[in-house]
Amino acid sequence: MSELNSIVLKILNKGKGILAADESTATMTKRLESVKIQSTAENRLSFRETLFSASGMTEYIGGVILYDETIKQITSKKNKIPELISEMGSFPGIKVDTGAKVLAGSPNEKITEGLDGLRERLKEYYKFGAKFTKWRGVYNISKEHPSKLSIQSNAHALARYSALVQECNMVPIVEPEVLMDGEHSAKECFVKTSEVIKKCFEELILHKVDLKGIILKPNMILAGNKCKDKISNEEVAKLTLKCLKESVPSEVPGIAFLSGGQSEIEATENLNLINKFNNTNFIMSYSFGRALQQSALKFWSQDIKNIDGTQKIFNQRAKMNTLAALGKWSKELEN
Ligand code: 13P
Repeated sequence: MSELNSIVLKILNKGKGILAADESTATMTKRLESVKIQSTAENRLSFRETLFSASGMTEYIGGVILYDETIKQITSKKNKIPELISEMGSFPGIKVDTGAKVLAGSPNEKITEGLDGLRERLKEYYKFGAKFTKWRGVYNISKEHPSKLSIQSNAHALARYSALVQECNMVPIVEPEVLMDGEHSAKECFVKTSEVIKKCFEELILHKVDLKGIILKPNMILAGNKCKDKISNEEVAKLTLKCLKESVPSEVPGIAFLSGGQSEIEATENLNLINKFNNTNFIMSYSFGRALQQSALKFWSQDIKNIDGTQKIFNQRAKMNTLAALGKWSKELEN
């Protein structure tokens, strides 16, 4: 087994998932301001340190995706953040893209940037202790989108990123996110997501990326948030499995879904059904941002000194999602 494959299997071992705490400072500011907390470096650290030192980290969270600011921060107990995460029994990871910018030639779409100087930045992050990385390509659905140009150029960037990350001995998380914003049906989401993922693997293979040493981070197949024809959770799970079975090469060891704006319970319920029906060899786990942090953030914002209370809420969410990654979750366990 290669070293990268063994890291993937440890991160996703026994229902463990990934905490996506890699919000850029701009996004984190939005999240904090939504709960009336000022976005200072100290407050950003304080919330994140609260989660990273929660007991649930050890049992349920195999990896934490950090942002550049956070990987360099020192905790209140004078530890480096990656050390704290390792001590909790989890792997530190890092978001390495520099964000999605307007795609020249198709102004309503985005292309993710960050390849220039990436090899040098990766070496620096590796020294900070990162064992895996993340890059997110983003696609929106409308009649004419995602365009061939956006599908092609984002796949190319994801593949060049992945090859550089593996060269530096880290596991790349490959995240092509087809957004749930819009009026589109689940069927359209299925068709577009399949096209996007297939193109990503075409490029990953062209760039000689070792597929056993990556984690795919896709969206679930959902109807758009403005679509009138919602589908059931069972249908979400079945369509998601069908899409991945048809588009992802069997060498890929693990898939960790993003939550993408679903509510906490919805994301957990869908993940649980995906695992109940899982007829593939892929490990199907989670790499949630909002669906792991939302309730904890709300609680914390009421009293940022209440570390135990905040951790309790986070531990419960992590536990529920790990149960879902094993197909053992049920609604009754939420109370
Ligand atoms: P959400 O689970 O909030 O979609 O975040 C996951 C993520 O890392 C998006 O890049």
